[in-house]
Formats: sequence, C-alpha cells, structure tokens
Amino acid sequence: MKAINTAVFAAALAGTLAAFASETLDLVPYPQEVKVLGGTYTAKSVDDLWPKAIRDPSLPKEGYRLTVDGTNGVSIACSGREGFMRALATLTQLGKSADGGKAEVFPCCEINDWPAFAWRGILFDDCRHFFGKEAVKKTLDAMARHKMNVFHWHLTEDQAWRLDIPKYPELVKYGAVRPESQNPECLGLPKMDGKPYGPYYYTESDVKEILAHAENLGIRVIPEIELPGHAVAAIAAYPELCCRGKLERRAPWCMWGVSDDIFCAGNDKTIKFLEDVIDYVTDLFPDAVVHIGGDEAPKGRWKECPKCQARIKALGLKNEAELQGWMVKHFTEYLAKKGKRAIGWDEITECNPPTATMIMCWRGANHGIAAAKKGHDVVMCPTSHCYMDYPQDADHKAKGYGKPAWAPVLSLEKVYTLDPLAGIPSEYHKHILGTQGNMWSEHILTPAEHEWKLWPRAAALAEIGWSGPGKHDFKDFKRRVDADMKRMEDEGWNVCR
Ligand code: ACM
Ligand code: ZN
Repeated sequence: MKAINTAVFAAALAGTLAAFASETLDLVPYPQEVKVLGGTYTAKSVDDLWPKAIRDPSLPKEGYRLTVDGTNGVSIACSGREGFMRALATLTQLGKSADGGKAEVFPCCEINDWPAFAWRGILFDDCRHFFGKEAVKKTLDAMARHKMNVFHWHLTEDQAWRLDIPKYPELVKYGAVRPESQNPECLGLPKMDGKPYGPYYYTESDVKEILAHAENLGIRVIPEIELPGHAVAAIAAYPELCCRGKLERRAPWCMWGVSDDIFCAGNDKTIKFLEDVIDYVTDLFPDAVVHIGGDEAPKGRWKECPKCQARIKALGLKNEAELQGWMVKHFTEYLAKKGKRAIGWDEITECNPPTATMIMCWRGANHGIAAAKKGHDVVMCPTSHCYMDYPQDADHKAKGYGKPAWAPVLSLEKVYTLDPLAGIPSEYHKHILGTQGNMWSEHILTPAEHEWKLWPRAAALAEIGWSGPGKHDFKDFKRRVDADMKRMEDEGWNVCR
C-alpha cells in the first residue's frame, strides 16, 4: 500500500510540476527564463507595489531579474536604468486589476531576462504627416511596454523639415508647411487636395521634452537628417543648396515618391549647411548615432551640374555614385570627430562607405548580409517584414483606415517570421545589431491611425528583437499578443484587433 501511495503521490507531483513548467505568462516579448511558482501576490497600494530594487553590476545593460513572491512582493535586480525599465515593462504586463481597480494581482514567478539584440526600434516619420509631441510620447510609452529601445525620428524630407534650427530660420518658415498634398487615397494620376498642411515643427524645447521622456523610459532617440536626397523642403528654404539653384515653387514637394531635386554635392555652401545642421543636432541629441539618410538619391541633377562635375574631377572620382560615397565618408568622419557614428540606408553600400558607417538594410535582407560580411554594423529592417505602413491584413479597410493596395499586405504572422540572422555566417552575427519597424506616413493621417498600424505588428518585431527569432511559435505568440492588445486597448491605445 505504502509503495503504491508513494507512486501515486510522485505521479501527482510530477503532473503538478509539469503544469507549472508548461504554464506561460501573458508577456510580450516573452522573457528568456520564466519560472511560474504558483499562487499570487496582491498589491493594494502603490507602496505595496513599489519594487525592492538592487543593483547587480554583473547583469547586462538591459537585463534584469524579477521575483514576485506571495509574501514579500516584488523585487528587481538590474545593473542600471535600462534594466530597471525593462523589468517594469514586465511588471506592467503581469498585473491584473482586481477588487474594482483597488488592487492589482500578480502571479508569483521568477524571471531572468535579457535581450537577444541591442537594437529594437521604431522609425517614426513625422514629415509626410505630422503627429506631434503627445503622439511621440505615447509611441515611446507603447515601445517601453514592449522593451523596444530605439526611436528613429525621421525629421527631414522632401515633404517637410520639422526641426527648428535657429541659425537657419527659413527651414521651418518654408520647409514646415506644404501648400497642398497629394491625396493619400490617390494612386494613379496624382490629385492634390488643395489644403495647406502646417506649419508643423519642433522647437528645441519640444525636442528636449521628448528626449527627457525617452530617457526616463530607457529609449535612445536617433535623429535622421536625410542627405543628399529627400531634401526638397530644405531646398525650398535655401534654393542655392540644389544644383539648379531654384525650384518651380519655393515650397516642400507636395507629391509622394522620389524627387529629382537633391542637395548639390559640388557646392561648398551645401556642405557647410549640412555641417551646421549636424553641429546643432549632435549638440541637442545625446545619442552616439545620427542617421544621415542616403536612400533614393537620383543622380540626374548631379550629371548636369557644373559644380558637382567639378567636384568629381577635382577628387578624381569615377562617377556620381562615387560623389555620394565622398559625401557619406565626409559626414561619417565629421560625426566621428564629435565622437558620434553615422548610419545610412543600404543604398550607400553601393558607394563604398567607410566600414565605420552603420547600415540600415531596407530593400532586402541580401543588402544587409553583404554589408555585414564587409564588416558594417547593420540594422535589419527589410520591407519584406518591417514596413509597418504596408497594409496589415485582409481586414485593412476596418475602421475606415483602408487605402488603396499600394503595397503588399504584411500580416502579423509574416512579421513574426523575421530572422535578422538568416543567411548570415556566424562569424558576422556580431554585426547584426537588431531590427526595427519602419512607419512611413504618406498614407497615415492621424495619431490614431498611426497606433492602429503599429500595434500589434510592432509587438511581433519587439519579440523577435528581445526574445530572439524562432524562440516561440506563432500560435503561442498570438495568444499572448491578443491579451496584450486587449490590455492596451483598455488603457486607451487604438490597436488593430
Ligand atoms: C526607404 O524606405 N526609402 C528607406
Ligand atoms: Zn550640383
């Protein structure tokens, strides 16, 4: 009898342990190591919830250990602010409101966590449409909940210049307002809406407010100053900066797409202007990385421009592509002198940039793979998985946000299949910094629509970036992200569900 009883007990215990081991928490991204202990801890006040934090310098920068104990409550170990913020993100997702909102209940657990990749970002295009300070802060809050840590702020474009630079007041006078815009619903012959858009721009104090908000959340802010292309708004302000010395009208470009007018690389005034802009930007933004664009720069104007041709000849360059290469090298070195690093879109890999220039891969993973093999640090954000402006699912027309199918559908499930390391030999893995979702805003008119397009797809990238690719199956992720989106919706986010 005794032996049988022991066997029954052992079987029951094994079953219970297996149940604990297989139990998962509703967390996105899912932590590296989770032990569900059973039982709960109920916090009845903020004081109860205030975690006991200890500094453990042996933990990685964003790593943390979090314990929820039925008696002693919450404790966190981390090596600094970033780890503490990632632990708080976990805690925020773990808690369930109880007693009519008077208490919060947490599952008892032990979590040991760290990121798979150092770069887990969102590109925020404030130029095609402008979303403003509150939308930026809300996006940062949603990123922090998902342990995303890089806010790539696209501030200059053909269609607008959004950063007030006191030395160049015309930038926002002419560059921050469009007399009209191409109707975003219109894909065929461009139709203009006839409505002025702006002026919309950020002052230094706006930027400082956003930087402080991001720093509190442990999020880096990478400003992007596009060069030499996507520059019509700056050229509208200072027409001498382009090869023709003029535009048809002194205004940002009102269409979407790629403009032929780009900065004149042969004009010393252009180089000085861009250096001044970079001086201002590097003084204002504390991060070590500045994005210098480099994508979609047609060379037709440079071919016809005496100044550009003279620079090509004087420098002994072969062609206009090498002239862009000279600009990339110049600004990489200019930033390096300030202790900063340049990152640019993957087109610049075609003009032989210095190895120190970081590459943001967008046209296809093959460009990122080639760059990593040459020794560049790379952020993987190919259109195939990371373009959050693409239509999300067959239900795209829900909520009235439907636009003509101008791009392929990028479903949540497809985003979740991204593997930033796919096709990259292991000796080059160290060059793959991570990934980000790019939210271009030609077709996105309001902060509400911006949110709806980002979530939940950005949460899929957050999990790939934090937990690592292939760690969990889509079914498991979908169950967790559905709970996550419900929570976000309850807390005031406009998510797609
Ligand atoms: C890009 O989407 N042109 C970087
Ligand atoms: Zn020129």
